[in-house]
Amino acid sequence: MSDRIKKAYKESSGIYDDALTQSSLFGKLYIKLFWDGMDVRGMTDKVLANIPADFSGKLLDVPCGTAVFTYEKWKSLKNTDITCVDYSPSMLAQAEKRMEGEPHIHCKQGDVGNLPMADETFDLVQTMNGLHVFPDKPKALRELYRVLKPGGLFIGSLYVKGESRKTDLIAKTLLEHEGWLTRPFWTKEQWQSYLERHYHDVKVGTVASMAYFSCRK
Ligand SMILES: C[S@@+](CC[C@H](N)C(=O)[O-])C[C@H]1O[C@@H](n2cnc3c(N)ncnc32)[C@H](O)[C@@H]1O
Repeated sequence: MSDRIKKAYKESSGIYDDALTQSSLFGKLYIKLFWDGMDVRGMTDKVLANIPADFSGKLLDVPCGTAVFTYEKWKSLKNTDITCVDYSPSMLAQAEKRMEGEPHIHCKQGDVGNLPMADETFDLVQTMNGLHVFPDKPKALRELYRVLKPGGLFIGSLYVKGESRKTDLIAKTLLEHEGWLTRPFWTKEQWQSYLERHYHDVKVGTVASMAYFSCRK
């Protein structure tokens, strides 16, 4: 992980939840001005809706961040063995606190580009709001594919360019400069085409400048 991204998520870990859940004035303004007032929780719920309430098996969540959007769902999946990975110790510490006392959830610090798991380990791999951040995207995509079992579900969300000129401008200037996002960015069509080359049952939708997706290996 680049030092720039590490530093950015260390510095923003204290305000990340407020910003993304819009529970502060700063959060409301950040989402309204930069992301066209996108319903972030509505978008993340669309990703999580791919996982049935009685899901069981092995699940990987990378990057888990602070787990602000996932902790309730992960806690409810008692028959699922869940591994949450994030590179940033300060983001991960908040996820660990949220999942405390849940024996089926394990939090690990790690790099998505170099996952310490065997091939075809997981029944489900989720990558929510990470692919527009990861510095080495080909490596991340290879690893996410490698650790998923054949027939396993791959779900997540990412920023896509081409949906809003304002968000695109802010993404490639301010947000990239601050280390919150890393180019290259893809359009929805480019992302869908990548998925269709490697997975099947591909479904991609958008909410403002975010694409959410599901597919099977
Ligand atoms: C925008 S946050 C998303 C977190 C969470 N999935 C969510 O939706 O709230 C991006 C996260 O990616 C993590 N990250 C960046 N590069 C990474 C890498 N190479 N490996 C693992 N995590 C990484 C950051 O530390 C940060 O927590």
